[in-house]
Order: sequence, then C-alpha cells, then structure tokens
Amino acid sequence: MKSKRSRLDRYLAKELVQPKKVIRQILLQGRVKLDGEVCKDMDKLIDEFSHIKFDEQVLQSLQPVYIMLHKPVGVVSATKDLQHKTVLDLIDHPQKNELHIVGRLDLNTSGLLLLTNDSRWSNKLMQPENKIPKRYRVQLANPIHPDYIESFAKGFYFEYEQITTLPAQLEIIAEREAIVSIQEGKYHQVKRMFGRFRNPVVALHRLSVGGLSLDNSLEAGESRMLMPNEVFMALEEPKWSED
Ligand code: URA
Repeated sequence: MKSKRSRLDRYLAKELVQPKKVIRQILLQGRVKLDGEVCKDMDKLIDEFSHIKFDEQVLQSLQPVYIMLHKPVGVVSATKDLQHKTVLDLIDHPQKNELHIVGRLDLNTSGLLLLTNDSRWSNKLMQPENKIPKRYRVQLANPIHPDYIESFAKGFYFEYEQITTLPAQLEIIAEREAIVSIQEGKYHQVKRMFGRFRNPVVALHRLSVGGLSLDNSLEAGESRMLMPNEVFMALEEPKWSED
C-alpha cells in the first residue's frame, strides 16, 4: 500500500483547479490552514490525514483508523471474495471500505489481524528491514525436535522468492506445540518452515505484532479500535510476560 505524501501546492492546484502561480498567491495571502495553522509554505509535505482548509472550506479532514480483529478460521483476509466471508464483513465501522489489511493471515489461521487506512503505519509494520516480530502459536502433526530451533535461527532458503528468511525464534512449549516469532511475512511462511521437516501445521494462531498482543477479551470474530498508545506499541519491541 503506497503512502499518499505530496506537496501542499500540488495538492491545492489539483483540488482548486488553479495554476501554480494562483496557488502561490492564495498561500501568501494566508488563506490556507494546515492542521489549524496558517501555512504559506508551498513545499510543505502533506499526507492523507493533514487537515486542510481554504478560506472557510474544509478540503480534507480524514481521520486515521486502526482496528484489531480476532480473525476466526474460515474467514478470508481480503476485502472482497466470492466464496468466503471476508474480514471486512466482520467489521462495523463507517470508514470500513477505506481500510486495508496489515499482513494477511491464511484462511485457516486465526488470531490478531490489523486493519487501517494509514498506509505509512502499515508499511512500517510490514517492511522486513524494520524487523517487526510477528508471534504465532503453532500446533504440529508430529513431535517437534529440538534441532528445529537452530534451523529456524539460521533461516531457510525460499526458492520461489530467492531469499533466506531472517532469523526466527522457536520456543517449544509442548511435544507438538511451539511459539514462533518471525520478522517478515512471506506467503505461508510458518507452514513452509515446518514443511522443511515434513511436519504439517495443524493449527496456527497469531498472538502479536511487535509489542501489540491480541486482546484476550475479544472473541473470534470480534474487533475493536486501537487506543493511541497501541498504535505505537505495534511498532515497538515486544515485552512478553504471558500469552
Ligand atoms: N504463516 C503461515 O503459514 N500462515 C499464516 O497465515 C501466517 C504465517
């Protein structure tokens, strides 16, 4: 999802259908307010959430929306689908059609799914170079061998993408159950990692993204808005005590 940053003068020229030199005069006359303050700077960078007023006319006043959903198994991480219920069908928000998904989960994966209209936030969360950990609880068909831990830490070469996965942490919590933390989100990544040991994943549940955990009070299918501090927590290092 591309973030929508642009220069104030370009935005105004398009919105008011006026040439740049008229826009320059309008700005110098102090007729434009950016986030409540008069702005005369043509080069000023704005984004989709900048509040822009020209005289008494509000040109832009979009609010950022951040939602956490407890995605159930059997619901598709898409905004439209002909066959299955989508995660958007589970959300009740007036701006829901402007939202996009931050890191899809497979049809049969459950857990924390984030939705937003803020593409800068979602890009930060998804870019592998930002190394935001995504933690999953995994149930396997067969016993997990302790040797897996080193292989996960070293990374796996994925032929299709021609990449080696970033170091991942594997914590074995029962004979066939583990917590996995990965730093990127390649297609079917966790399943493919266990697939290297011919050990099929039978259940997969995302517990957290960065420092933001799924709210335990949300039943599968329920969602809620994030609080402002939680928007930052998703970008932070996790501080785990329990799950
Ligand atoms: N890895 C998978 O294999 N599936 C998911 O849904 C998420 C991570």
